[in-house]
Amino acid sequence: MRKKLIAGNWKMHKTVPEAQTLARQLADRLSDVNFADVAICPPFVDLYPVSLILREKESKIILGAQNMHPEPKGAFTGEISAEMLLSAGAKMVILGHSERRHIFGETDGFINAKVRRALEVGLVPILCIGETLEQRKAGKTNDVLREQITKSLAGVQIDDPHKIIIAYEPVWAIGTGVNATPEQAQEAHTFVRGLLAQLWGEQVAQEVRILYGGSVKPANAQSLLTQPDVDGALVGGASLDADSFEGIIRSGF
Ligand code: PGA
Repeated sequence: MRKKLIAGNWKMHKTVPEAQTLARQLADRLSDVNFADVAICPPFVDLYPVSLILREKESKIILGAQNMHPEPKGAFTGEISAEMLLSAGAKMVILGHSERRHIFGETDGFINAKVRRALEVGLVPILCIGETLEQRKAGKTNDVLREQITKSLAGVQIDDPHKIIIAYEPVWAIGTGVNATPEQAQEAHTFVRGLLAQLWGEQVAQEVRILYGGSVKPANAQSLLTQPDVDGALVGGASLDADSFEGIIRSGF
């Protein structure tokens, strides 16, 4: 049985005091939530202050980061290592988000190095993949997903399905208000699960969680999250406000 995971990607939002306020609100409101896992991924500088609040509140909310560098340390001005994330209280890390790929030019090879490093230190990668509108219109969705999965996970062996999470985020649905239909999400997730089975075997693939991301909000969460292969959501805009994030979590999936 795959337990759903609802993860909030705060992107470049929330100063330290704002992040602490939201973390406090979520910890208070979600203390009874056992039916799903909940994660929040604030900006780097917010991680440690938010971790203190989650600890103080004895919250089950999992802390995640949005990126990291694959090297353990060194002359990489402006970068953050996996160990730093762990020491700040993070348990997960979003890798290969489409904004990293498209705005900052990250390649599958670079993302692969990050995935390996995260796994090495025991951080759970949330590996993001997804096609652009142009690629979808050209009928290339599956080719793109296959290439991203194959290259980002090259040489990665997974025997414990809880060590990694995949997020299918069609680029055309991110921050646009246009979500994939539940059928489109289900179709892509089934395809991705098949790819994972080729890499790690059917048994592991059946247990790896595949999240959907792209304009998830309280109004569409239930229809997406009740799809059999949609194991949760990676939520951007709607995770920045306690009401809407809670609304998604309690949407009755
Ligand atoms: P969105 O972002 O929910 O604002 O579309 C999702 C994401 O980029 O992870």
